[in-house]
Amino acid sequence: MSGLIPKQFIVDLIDRADVVEVVGRRVQLKKAGKEFKACCPFHDEKTPSFTVSPGKGFYHCFGCGEHGNALDFLMQYDHMEFVEAVESLAGMMGVEVPHEEGQSQRPARSYDALFDLVARVGRFYEAELKNHPPAVEYLKQRGIDGATAKRFGIGYAPAGWSKVLDKFGTSKEAIERLLAVGLIIRKDNGQHYDRFRDRIMFPIRDSRGRVIGFGGRVMANEEPKYLNSPETVLFHKGRELYGLYEARQALRSIDRLVVVEGYMDVVGLARHGIDFSTATLGTATTDEHLNRLFRMCDEVLFCFDGDRAGRAAAWRALENALPQIREGRQVRFVFLPEGQDPDSYVQKHGAAAFEKMLDEAMPLSDFLVEELSAQVDMDSVDGRARFAELARPLVSKIPLGVYKELLTERLAGSIGLPTGKLESILKRDVSPEPKGNAPGKTRLRAGSRGSGNLSIVRRAITLLLHDPAAARNLNVEQLSGVSKPGCDLLRDLIETVQSEPTISTAGVLERWRHDEEGRHLGKLAAIELPGSDDFDASAELADCIAQLALTARRDRMSFLIEKQTLKSLSDAERNELRALSQGSAFSG
Ligand code: UTP
Ligand code: MN
Repeated sequence: MSGLIPKQFIVDLIDRADVVEVVGRRVQLKKAGKEFKACCPFHDEKTPSFTVSPGKGFYHCFGCGEHGNALDFLMQYDHMEFVEAVESLAGMMGVEVPHEEGQSQRPARSYDALFDLVARVGRFYEAELKNHPPAVEYLKQRGIDGATAKRFGIGYAPAGWSKVLDKFGTSKEAIERLLAVGLIIRKDNGQHYDRFRDRIMFPIRDSRGRVIGFGGRVMANEEPKYLNSPETVLFHKGRELYGLYEARQALRSIDRLVVVEGYMDVVGLARHGIDFSTATLGTATTDEHLNRLFRMCDEVLFCFDGDRAGRAAAWRALENALPQIREGRQVRFVFLPEGQDPDSYVQKHGAAAFEKMLDEAMPLSDFLVEELSAQVDMDSVDGRARFAELARPLVSKIPLGVYKELLTERLAGSIGLPTGKLESILKRDVSPEPKGNAPGKTRLRAGSRGSGNLSIVRRAITLLLHDPAAARNLNVEQLSGVSKPGCDLLRDLIETVQSEPTISTAGVLERWRHDEEGRHLGKLAAIELPGSDDFDASAELADCIAQLALTARRDRMSFLIEKQTLKSLSDAERNELRALSQGSAFSG
């Protein structure tokens, strides 16, 4: 057990750990919105002020100030040493802790055992399909042939409570691993049983083709229709897209990708030769999904039902897509006739009809204008003003560039306003010193006013810690020339997030655990920010960076002006001015 544990392993571990589970095994937690609450285990109290945030991977007590990530909790609550806490957390998650022996060691690959286990269970399900005629019959009746089933690795989880458990859970470690990947469930009495029973199994593969989780469908008319693997160390729903790996295998080059809602949609389309579809896993499309899609091609189409739920899902997709669009990239929407999904549509009308719908898809700008105009009275002046107000927060999410200009022009056309006029309305929100709050938006006020407020650098760091993803698209170059205290740390933090876009608050804190500079990060992460859904950390953070850049420019400018002036001054005057500008003339 000698040798250093690689830092990256620890940061990964913290990023994948479930702080709610770690704390919840020792403290009774109650759900409160996105967070969990309890009476603080570190001090005596009657009303709960101890909060655990699964999103941040972080806990904090507003009473006594204790805070930290899953490792801190183990150290503080169970009085473990650091290395002991790492070993314990890793054990809980079913991974082995690597130790670096000198420099010649190959990199740690401690998730291998988990990947291997999931792959073996996947093959078991596939083999079971062949032994179970009703399951094969079900697939046939849904129009799926053997070749397509094979391509997607579709299988069958046999009925019974312990088929997987008995076959793969042959040791204590093996059982821990099955738990860690979500294939078995632990009962209160410590016994286990199979999660997936008597279901058609769809393996979910990561970008390298490794199976990381499953979706399982019942064959009868039962609830729930689909059961999915839970979030595990290998599987994150907000990151993965079903069918993307299979699409890349099938196609030499990908020009466009269609995002659909279900497993059966992807498989059904593929059966009809439409190999470029992919599905989110029962969640809304996240910006992480979009990042992955746009890394692969420049055109993304969303295909939803034509009903209200479909329009709502499309609108959420639009909001998340805005930060990703720029010239050369296209986002379009397809709305299917009511009651149809891509699978049923392609079965009924064929691939050519489906592709025709794609070709006629609605551009993002049309959808935006259509939805916004439906919310206001476009025939009245007030209505058109309201339209501009509604468009403002949306347009502000689009990166500067030709696309943004064209869209603004388009919006101006819709409300009959000169483009320049609309631009100035839209810009109100992004001026470096916001004068007022945008409607419905909460702003974290700070700056030089008021002594209890945060400095801009601290405000920026606080925002980044609360929502690391907010720093993904920032331009750190803007900070060159800014020499405020803490600015180097801010730059390091931004660069860390950009090189590890999925890092969590807890992961960031872990990176700086042994760092003098980062000693106060935990406190900043624990500051309470406005919790409303409208609070837009990326816009706030971009604002801070813009303000810092502006201040730096101003400082530099006055410096140069001063320098220029100094040259024409006599020696005595120069000394006097220097003294004045250093403040000694006032203090002395
Ligand atoms: P749908 O209900 O549209 O199912 O759910 P589907 O994909 O068309 O499946 P079939 O045609 O009835 O077999 C869309 C997606 O939502 C998630 C799944 O990812 C599903 O593919 N879902 C749905 C669940 O996770 N659980 C459910 O109970 C239902
Ligand atoms: Mn369907």
